[in-house]
Parts: sequence; C-alpha cells; structure tokens
Amino acid sequence: MARRILVTSALPNANGSIHLGHLLEHIQTDIWVRFQRMRAHQCLHVCADDTHGAATMLKAEVEGLEPQVLIERIREEHAADFRGFGVTHDNYYSTHAPENKQLSDLIYERLHARGLIFTREVEQLYDPERKMFLADRFVKGICPRCGEDDQYGDNCESCGATYEAIDLGSPRSTVSGATPQLKASEHYFFDLPQYTDMLKDWTTSGALQPEVANKLAEWLDGGLKAWDISRDAPYFGFLIPGSTDKYFYVWWDAPIGYMASFMNYAQERADLTFDEFWQPESNTEVHHFIGKDIVNFHCLFWPSVLDGAGFRKPTKIHTHGFASVSGAKMSKSRGVFVNAATWLEHLDAEYLRYYFAAKLNGTIEDIDINLEDFVTRVNSDLVGKIANIASRTAGFVTKQFDATLSAQLEDEALWQQFVDAGSRIAEYYESCDTSKAVREITALADLANQYIAHHEPWKMVKDEAQRERLHLVCSESINLFRVLVIYLQPIVPAFAERARTFLNVEALAWTDAATPLGEHAIGKFKPLITRVDPKKVDAMLEHTEAEETESADEAGNASPDPEWISIDEFEKVELRVARIVAAEKVEGADRLLALTLDVGDERRNVFSGIREAYDPTDLVGRLTVMVANLAPRKMRFGVSQGMVLAAGPGGADIFLLSPDSGAEPGMRVT
Ligand code: 2FM
Ligand code: ZN
Repeated sequence: MARRILVTSALPNANGSIHLGHLLEHIQTDIWVRFQRMRAHQCLHVCADDTHGAATMLKAEVEGLEPQVLIERIREEHAADFRGFGVTHDNYYSTHAPENKQLSDLIYERLHARGLIFTREVEQLYDPERKMFLADRFVKGICPRCGEDDQYGDNCESCGATYEAIDLGSPRSTVSGATPQLKASEHYFFDLPQYTDMLKDWTTSGALQPEVANKLAEWLDGGLKAWDISRDAPYFGFLIPGSTDKYFYVWWDAPIGYMASFMNYAQERADLTFDEFWQPESNTEVHHFIGKDIVNFHCLFWPSVLDGAGFRKPTKIHTHGFASVSGAKMSKSRGVFVNAATWLEHLDAEYLRYYFAAKLNGTIEDIDINLEDFVTRVNSDLVGKIANIASRTAGFVTKQFDATLSAQLEDEALWQQFVDAGSRIAEYYESCDTSKAVREITALADLANQYIAHHEPWKMVKDEAQRERLHLVCSESINLFRVLVIYLQPIVPAFAERARTFLNVEALAWTDAATPLGEHAIGKFKPLITRVDPKKVDAMLEHTEAEETESADEAGNASPDPEWISIDEFEKVELRVARIVAAEKVEGADRLLALTLDVGDERRNVFSGIREAYDPTDLVGRLTVMVANLAPRKMRFGVSQGMVLAAGPGGADIFLLSPDSGAEPGMRVT
C-alpha cells in the first residue's frame, strides 16, 4: 500500500550561507525522499529558513536592513543553493510567516491551558550599553579552567571546558564591548519533566536509532529540567501571547516551522490537508532528518510539545553525524565551510551527492570528506564502473543493430542476480544506509564489467559468425546498466536522467528494474559523466580560502571587541593620505569596490566594502586615509594592498574618511 510520508530536514539558520554541513543532511534527506517516490509512495519534503533570534537582529543591523528584508534575501539564496544540488523541497518556507505565528500561539495556548507553562526569574548577563540580554555566543572572556582569553560564553575552544557565561574572567559583550552585568528577568518555562514517562516510552518505540535512544536514556534517567522558552526584548521573533516584551525563544517556533511550512504548502494543494498529517492517530508518517547536535530539541522537547498540544508525534527521527573535511591539501582554515555556491562554481553537484551517499551509513558516526578520496571514488565508481558499462557497449548496438536491443537476454542468471539485489538495496535506502546500497551497486557494476571483459565484444564484432551473440551480449550489458541506473537514481538523479534519455524510456521506476527492455530502440549515446578534475578541487579550495578572508574582514567590522593597545603598537600602523585615482565595481562581489590609490610615490590596489554606499565615479579624485603597511592579502579577485578607513555600521551606512583641505597624497597621518 502506498505510504503517505511528510519529510523535513533541519531548518538552516538565516544568518549564514549553506555549506557542506547543511548539504550532507539535505542530500541525505533528498536521497531518502526520491527513493520513496520511486517506490510509488507519496513523499513530501518541506523545509524553511530558521529566521528568529538575536543573531539575525544584529546581522540585519550591521547590514542596515530590516530583518524581514535580510531573511527574505537569505531564504532565496538558500533555496537556490539546495536546488543547485538537486534537493527537491516541495516547499522552502520561512519561520517568520503567518502560519508559524498562528501555530506557535496555538500550541502555546493549549499548553498554557493545561498548566504546562509557568514563569520564573532568571539571572543572565546583560549588555548595559546595548540594553539587551546576551546569549552565550555574544559574551567573550577568560576561560575559567585554562585561563585562555577570547573564549565564548559556553565553552573554551582551547581546552574544551564547558561552563556558564557568568564564570568567564573579564567578560565582555561582543556586541558593544561593554562589561556585562548580571540582571534578573522573568522567563517562561515549559514543564518538560511532566513528560518523562511519555518520553521513556516514545524514545524506545523504534522511532530513533538505538545509539540515539541510549544517549537519551542517560538524560532521562538523570532527570529532565523545565525548558526556558522565552527571551526578552529586543529580539527578532514572535511575541508571546499576552506579553508586550517577551518573545518565544527561537527554538520554540523552529520545529513548529516544519508544521507551518507544510500548512503553507497544503493550502496550495487541493488533495492535501494539514490535519491528515498532524492529527494523532493519523495513518500518515512524519520523518525528521537532523544532525546529532540537535537531538535534545527533536527527541525531548518536540515530541512533548506536540503531545501536550494534541498533535501527533514524529514517526521517525533520522540522526546523522557531523561532516568534516580532511586531506593533504587542507589547512586549518579550510574546513567544512566550503559554501554550496562555491562548490557549484567549480564542481558538479552529483559528485558530492554520490560521495555523501557512499559515506552515509544510517548511524551518527561523523563523516569525513577527504578530497583526495573523493576524487578517486567518484572517478573510479561513477565514471570507471557504472558509466563504463554503457560506453563500452552502446556503440555496437547503435552501429551494428540499428540501435535496437535484442529480444532476449544472453545470461538470464546474471540478470536475475541484478534484479534480486533490488530488495536488499531498497532496505538499505529505507534505513539510510546508502553506503551499503552503493557498495552493492558497485559490486554489481564490477560483475557487469567482468561480463563485458569476458565476452570481448570488440573482438566479436570482427567475426561475422559471432554477430548474433554480439547483439545479445551488448543488449544484456545495456539492460544491466539500466537496472543499476534505477538503483542509483535517488543518489544521482541528473546522471540517471541523461541515462534515461540514452535508454529512450519514459521513466525509471523502482519496479521497472524487474523487467528487461527486450526489443527496444535506444537513443544516441553521449558521455554521461566527466571525470572529476583535481585541479577544480584545488580551485574550489582556493576560492573558499579567499571567501574566508573576506568574511573575517567583514566580521571584524561587525563586532567590535575592544582591547587597549600601547602607543608603540599604535605607531606600528602606518596611516597615509591617499587619492582615489580609479574606482570600479568587482564582478561577483556585491559589496566590494576595487580602488586604485595614489599614495605619493606609488600606487596601490585596494578592495573596499563600500560599494553599497558609493557610486564609483563619485569617488575618483577624492582624498581619503589608508592603512599603508597592512600586509597584502590575496582575495578571490586579486591582491589587496592596504585598507581605506571608513566609519559606520556597513552596507549603505558607511562613510569614507577624508583629511582636511591642504593634505596631499602620501602624507603620514599621525
Ligand atoms: O541547528 C540549527 O541550525 C537550527 N536552525 C535547526 C532548527 S531545526 C528545527 F527544529 F527547526
Ligand atoms: Zn580553556
């Protein structure tokens, strides 16, 4: 019977780019979703950007934008990145949406009515200058364990200690630089401990991977605490009903965003209702795909909130490990933060889909992306094994047999072996163990290649007496290739689509694998995939490094983190008057202008993030001040030989400094 399944991936934060870590999860989800659809189940995949919280509010301020404008721009970027990787979201929505407000309020009110919400005073660090409470990531100071300075408010990157922000030595706000004060305020809590028994049952009901259930059992046995669900103004989020200055904590409305995205989608589809997927006792399924860092939110809070509000609980939570990038060419700064858009500029999305599939095994083990291994793996499997089956045999069918396959198979037993593997491969897909699916498929590809090598069609073609067997052997090979393409389709859908055109078939449904093509006209064979060029991998890494330099510079503007320096240190900075002799926009960098500066005895090229504030033609001829002894920095667009000085939060609100009249290019600023 056809299943009706709603699937979600964790909602990416609306304050950064989609990178390999997000892609691991969304590709894993998409493979599962495509597999279910191939099996003729109804499978809907919804997602959204997770938009609320102080980080979005502060980023919007830095960019001089309303948060709504910022999050919509980022949502569009995120949706495009995922499309570029073939991820088929039926709806990519936003948590800052009317459906989410409606559902967040409704769920809160239901829990409130059942006595599951209470308030309590909480003491927290407060920024007296910026007049806001500070989340741990906005406080830095000295680690109470190892004494290392510049550590965030929750854990030390140097020694790994975890602590409370109030335990930091010499704490400071990364928002304003002020020393935070402890301040009390009333917070709202959800009475999670009431759900301990329900959670003990649910977490062991088969909805979770065993290792996740075991971890949760430890937490459940240790005793649950009430969950703080409010944040004080200023905050970008939804006001709590009945309050004028308390907002829902971002993690309140984030998972509700799954429901809201689906509600928004269902409104557009006459054949779907919200209730059939969210009412208890429904015969539909809800599956969440998440990373292991957010297990507590999804496996403790979320089922309890749903249960308390009279909604169904998830059918399954599929948890994966973290992604990391390694390999000889990796430096510390080049990490998992290869951005989706950067990857797509240099490499095919399907290479990554294939590599992730080959590594993911349905457990919470971490996934190491080793780029040397990646190149070898994709080239040897996809190009050398799979595509090779067709490229070695298609030409004979086309040229010798009018592009028509034989009515019979040459080796029924081999064919049956390929068909029989289908049920095992389906089980691997179902349990997210795509590494086993890939292993099984490539082992079959080895058999197909051995079969071709054994029969040597390139010799048979020279012998008229072998003509019929040549037809049978090549037709068998193409049929075996078709079965493998069907099995691989959830992983590499664009490759499968090119193969479908070559095979000249309507579709590649899972059940089609059981029936060979028989007498059938195939299409023209064109190369189905090209080898990964290691030089392109290098180019992608260089590109990533240049982006990191750029964003580190931007972050420097965004979060002042003052510290005293001595006059000697200050004097090391060589400030000079400069005349802008040329200014141009930089292709591919929305914020940058390329400036040519006359500094008296020489010219310098400097990239500056002032494009939103200035028309380049207005700048030519004007004087400004530059840091003349900043070490040259290699950026994606060229080398920047210094930095011009400007004031203001950024975006359109940035003001270039100018010396008074009389100053000349090259003069030292003292
Ligand atoms: O960890 C994160 O990036 C969160 N934005 C995930 C939210 S998932 C869901 F609950 F919304
Ligand atoms: Zn430390």
